[in-house]
Amino acid sequence: MLRILIRLYLIVAILSIISIIFVQKGFPYIFREDFEAQMHRDYNTEAMLVRNYLGPLRDSAQEARLAHMNGVSPQRYARLSTAEMQAMSPAVKEALARSGVAWNGHGENNRPDPYIALDDGSVLQVHSYTFGYTEVIAYIVIFSVMLAAMLLWLTPHWRDLEKLRIAAARFGEGALDARAKLSENSSIKQLCTYFNNMADRIRNLITAQRDMVNAASHELRTPLARLEFGLVNLMDTTDDSKAHKRIQAMRKDVEELDILVGELLTLSMLEQSSLPERREKVALEDFLRSATGVSHEELALRHATINWSVDASIKDIITEPRNLGRAFSNLVRNALRYARSSIRVRVETGAGCWNLIVEDDGVGIPENERERIFEPFYRLDRSRDRTTGGYGLGLAIVKRATERLGGTVRIDASELGGAMFIMRFPR
Ligand SMILES: Nc1ncnc2c1ncn2[C@@H]1O[C@H](COP(=O)(O)OP(=O)(O)O)[C@@H](O)[C@H]1O
Ligand SMILES: [Mg+2]
Repeated sequence: MLRILIRLYLIVAILSIISIIFVQKGFPYIFREDFEAQMHRDYNTEAMLVRNYLGPLRDSAQEARLAHMNGVSPQRYARLSTAEMQAMSPAVKEALARSGVAWNGHGENNRPDPYIALDDGSVLQVHSYTFGYTEVIAYIVIFSVMLAAMLLWLTPHWRDLEKLRIAAARFGEGALDARAKLSENSSIKQLCTYFNNMADRIRNLITAQRDMVNAASHELRTPLARLEFGLVNLMDTTDDSKAHKRIQAMRKDVEELDILVGELLTLSMLEQSSLPERREKVALEDFLRSATGVSHEELALRHATINWSVDASIKDIITEPRNLGRAFSNLVRNALRYARSSIRVRVETGAGCWNLIVEDDGVGIPENERERIFEPFYRLDRSRDRTTGGYGLGLAIVKRATERLGGTVRIDASELGGAMFIMRFPR
């Protein structure tokens, strides 16, 4: 608000100053005749009296009277030197000769500094105007009132815009029920209505889609379990090794479908932010070591090792163990898929936060993909990725789970050569 106010105020103030200067300096030229008539009305009498008062005297006696006049009206009259008189423009000289009073273009619009010709040919200049502190105060008052008027005008607009901004920000962060409520006579009421309508539509679309995925996944669970059960039974009915192989392959497919359905259900559960999760105190290192989701056999099979480095100053934390475990195991399982041989897990403490870092020495993730990779079903299309299977839901789950814990997750390049996932949680 302050920025808008300052900008607006500067623009208005600068334009006002320019227009004041224009009126003061420009008008006497534009409305020359009116201006000169006014000047004659103001000064002709004074000029006559001055001439009468000084006219009969010469030299020192005249100087003494002039000094006396300047004592009565301080520094009002100045006698022009010969050089100054010669420097006057022909127009001014002509006007002086014609009417005895002339204006040289200096001084203010309403208070010029005119010349008065005396009978002996000398010329006095009348300094009628001095810039005093009252004028300064007057301008201060005018510009302060201007500022106050702007504040008065801007404040309600600002309050409404702020409400709309907060609603939009909350909606963007996933609070689908965030709406802006403004009074009926707000000047941005219409904008607010459009925003609220848009938010309603988006929320309806998203919940409909979520509900559908959720319902479909639930419905798939039972037939999948039945299929699995049926396949196991089928296996027992025959000794044909060829048939065994086929059935085994089918069981593998069913298992993959089951994993997909499980991941879909997890993701949709995480997205329903209203569902609360149990918070518990856990001993961090022990918890993490038990939550990798990777067995020793798997590690041995892939000739991979996990190196641990946990900051000793962080022992117990309060967290939602299920979500932390989900996020962590997804990262470790990915790392195992892509690592050549080495995975590193680090826990570090920072100011008011702690970081959980999972890195590997695999192919890494190109910089331009590091945002999108967290979207559901987004997978990189490298030859390596095609052979690993998976549906691209793992990192979407990681992101939602960390966000539910109030944390963030980002990707960097690891010193080991592969990808580095950094989860940051508040303490
Ligand atoms: N540690 C990693 N190293 C290299 N690429 C990775 C790593 N982790 C994830 N990725 C890339 O991110 C994509 C998405 O990962 P994810 O969401 O876990 O899906 P999925 O594991 O089902 O493929 C993967 O297909 C892969 O291309
Ligand atoms: Mg994965």
